[in-house]
Amino acid sequence: MADLEGLTEGERFQTSVVAPSLSNTLKGSGALDWGMQSRLARIFRPSTNRTVMLAIDHGYFQGPTTGLERVDLSIVPLLGYADALMTTRGMVRSTIPAITRTPIVLRASGGPSILKELSDEQVAVSMEDASRINAAAVAVQVFIGGEFETQSVRNMTKLVDEAQRYGIPVLAVTAVGKELKRDARYLRLATRICAELGAHIVKTYYCEKDFDTVAAGCPVPLVMAGGKKLDELDALTMAYRAIEEGASGVDMGRNIFQSEFPTEMIQAIAAVVHESAKPSDAYATFIKSEVKK
Ligand code: 5RP
Repeated sequence: MADLEGLTEGERFQTSVVAPSLSNTLKGSGALDWGMQSRLARIFRPSTNRTVMLAIDHGYFQGPTTGLERVDLSIVPLLGYADALMTTRGMVRSTIPAITRTPIVLRASGGPSILKELSDEQVAVSMEDASRINAAAVAVQVFIGGEFETQSVRNMTKLVDEAQRYGIPVLAVTAVGKELKRDARYLRLATRICAELGAHIVKTYYCEKDFDTVAAGCPVPLVMAGGKKLDELDALTMAYRAIEEGASGVDMGRNIFQSEFPTEMIQAIAAVVHESAKPSDAYATFIKSEVKK
């Protein structure tokens, strides 16, 4: 009974201090379960509620993409600069060191290659395996207006049902076929359908006109896809505009790993995303790298 000696009832309980009620300021996530919020907080830095996600999952439908021939050499050195890595379970298990602190957003849909109809995807990873990998989220392609639109939406809703059980968020990627126009009207439709049907994060392309209405109409965090390789200043400008207009971060691939200076590029993107650095200021790092070359 020695541990009861000296116990002063009341003092340690601080009965006059009200316990805080927990609040989460990440868009649309305040009512989610604790595990789900915790995983989202690994992806979106709580200090800014934004993320720099590095997308390297291209191989799941197009094989060894330029810049991703040797992920061990080109991507592993970048891990420390990314808030999250979007990749496949094959690449995780073969090449990404398990000691990384960078959370994994796991590609969980697939099927057709670039030789076939891309919208004909299926769920390609079980939530059990995603949880074994310690994924912070799973990613699924949604082809609104595509040939297999309903099937791809169903892939997402199946994952969302399981995600709720496991506490693993679902990132819905709004995939735009060649025949569809990436304008605000289309992107509002696609992103909103994904959010309404349960996606916890939505990824979409930037559009020059009215992107702010796309972001405003999506009740969960929206991350901007990079798309084909642009000049660094143009890519930084696109990221800057997306953030200014309401995106909660970026999920970029080729514009980072196909840059001549990927380490500098990912840091410049992070400055734009997390510090609202002006594109021209962030771009200055390239000029310095060029001079050093
Ligand atoms: C495939 C994806 C890719 O992860 C991503 O869009 C590719 O990144 P980037 O276009 O920036 O190279 O979701 O549709």
